[in-house]
Amino acid sequence: MSVWRIQGGYPLEGTMTIQGAKNAVLPVLAATVLTGCETELTNVPALRDVEASLNILRWLGCQVQRQGDVVRVDSRNAGRSDIPAALMREMRSSVIFLGAVLGRFGAASLSLPGGCELGPRPIDLHLAAMERLGARVECEDGEIRAAAPVLRGAVIGLPLPSVGATENAMIAACAAKGTTVITGAAREPEIVELQGFLRAMGADMDGAGTGTITVRGFEPRQRVGWRVMPDRIAAATVLCACACAGGDVELRGADPAHFVCVTDTLAAMGAEMTVKSRRVRIRCREELTGGQTIITRPYPGFPTDAQPLMMAASLKAAGRTVFVENIFSGRYRQAEQLRRLGADIRVAGRMASVTGVQTLRGARLRAEDLRGGASLIIAALGAEGESAVIDTAGHVERGYDGLDAALAALGAHIDRSEN
Ligand code: UD1
Repeated sequence: MSVWRIQGGYPLEGTMTIQGAKNAVLPVLAATVLTGCETELTNVPALRDVEASLNILRWLGCQVQRQGDVVRVDSRNAGRSDIPAALMREMRSSVIFLGAVLGRFGAASLSLPGGCELGPRPIDLHLAAMERLGARVECEDGEIRAAAPVLRGAVIGLPLPSVGATENAMIAACAAKGTTVITGAAREPEIVELQGFLRAMGADMDGAGTGTITVRGFEPRQRVGWRVMPDRIAAATVLCACACAGGDVELRGADPAHFVCVTDTLAAMGAEMTVKSRRVRIRCREELTGGQTIITRPYPGFPTDAQPLMMAASLKAAGRTVFVENIFSGRYRQAEQLRRLGADIRVAGRMASVTGVQTLRGARLRAEDLRGGASLIIAALGAEGESAVIDTAGHVERGYDGLDAALAALGAHIDRSEN
């Protein structure tokens, strides 16, 4: 359990460098097992989900070394195709190993993490994609078994642009004989990143970033080097923190093209934004104003992961800000906790409406999921007095590398302890 003690009311000032992207590195790590090769990844963030992925790779028989932000994976001697429940449970997105393990060994057996964090997270599209490639898939009592002596290229039509299903399909298609065309694909920057990495591994493919991805073949390479892209949601987190607490912050090493929706929304609320190719500066000297309607959609729409962050940024913005959450049904869990600070939030189904209040007051808060937990930290930075954000399950560490130290370096009065 970790406890974040935050003395709010101090503006954030200074410069910070953005960490490598969680949602980019996880599928890349899974893909390293697709062939027997040596991979060196740099800019790998120190996250619980990354550790969980490395433990899965070790279990599968890969040699894994980590030194600072460099991770080396040697998958030449990988030899197992099962992943036990204890390792799968550590990370909700561990299903991303399905395509890689099936592609390498012709079989995969993994269990699914139970429970739900953001509402139901079905994996039907992942399984259907494997079936389209010729795998026999059984799913019973939380166990998935997939087998395919040979995977064959196919047309995989996704009825909705699932990020994880697109990634699983891309990885498995690299191991298939013949051409695969994925239609209705997700277009997130992390998909473009995965395509870049798979190409570096030897894939002949294109289309990532559009709705149609074509995988033509694969000539495995023995050594692969890759630098992980910057984390657009970590960038959004710090921008929203500055919007809530006030101040003047410059983000370096970010790719602002990946979070235009977030910078545009903050600008519309009255934050002064300066956007350059690898830098973003936010200045919040005046009170922000609400009035925006923020609708989450697949990329390039407003990211669902930034919705709780933007909600925290809007708590003191004058007027009403409306949120419509289209991706995950259970994504307003932060609202009840934010109300303890004095926030005025009404939730009705997919919609939430925030009416700005002049003052938030410190309180004891409970982090219930990763981005929801980050939203409580943001709000506490903008609240008067002390808050304690209790994170019993360590949700925030799943996705942020040194967020407490980075915020403290910007002048936040923040202290995180492990109990
Ligand atoms: C990824 C991100 C997560 C982000 C989400 C949406 C990672 C590790 N996680 O999650 O941070 O919030 O994209 O941008 O990259 N769905 C189905 N059937 C499926 C798969 C998904 O119905 O087989 C539905 C989901 O319930 C959800 C929607 O599709 O409503 C989008 O989910 P998806 O894009 O798959 O999210 P993840 O890949 O799990």
